[in-house]
Amino acid sequence: MTTFGHRQSLDYDRRATRLLTGLYRRISTDVDTLATAGATVVDLGTGPGKLLAHIATRRPDLTLHGLDLSPHMIDIARRNLAGHPADLTVGDVTDLPYPDASVDLIVSSLSMHEWPDLPAAFREIRRVLRPGATAALYDFRFARAREIRRAAGDIERETIRLPWHPVAVVTCYHLHTA
Ligand SMILES: C[S@@+](CC[C@H](N)C(=O)[O-])C[C@H]1O[C@@H](n2cnc3c(N)ncnc32)[C@H](O)[C@@H]1O
Repeated sequence: MTTFGHRQSLDYDRRATRLLTGLYRRISTDVDTLATAGATVVDLGTGPGKLLAHIATRRPDLTLHGLDLSPHMIDIARRNLAGHPADLTVGDVTDLPYPDASVDLIVSSLSMHEWPDLPAAFREIRRVLRPGATAALYDFRFARAREIRRAAGDIERETIRLPWHPVAVVTCYHLHTA
């Protein structure tokens, strides 16, 4: 597991703007389709909060939450989301600070491959999602794919082709609650 300290978080924030804008744009377009008006949306492993900033600009009606293990990342996310009413929390995906059945949509980008206990994370994801809700979890296509499928139970995979990359390097895992 990578721990994002102060300097590493600042470096990541700079690189993310340069390299990942296409991915954030793609995910926020998907969120636009998946989230109903006024929905509660959680970004797990939000890092510097860039994805949440894209979502907030596109869909100001949503109630947004971001969670990350690194307090340094959450500090940066607070700065990047200044002016957007997003709730940002330092926390672990295996112990989510949200009530049972309270979340309409969970997203995550390029974080899942770092989660040390995938079964515990998926138990928490299923606990906090409302019945009939969705998680759309984006990660590197070849990172822990088998482990993720085993831990998540019933999950669908979609390969994502980004405009800037000749090879599809990202997978979206779709999880739906009954
Ligand atoms: C590569 S960064 C991706 C950040 C952001 N989602 C993005 O796309 O720019 C991975 C993030 O996942 C966070 N992370 C790793 N393990 C975590 C865990 N168990 N709980 C919460 N966040 C975690 C890290 O602190 C880091 O900020």
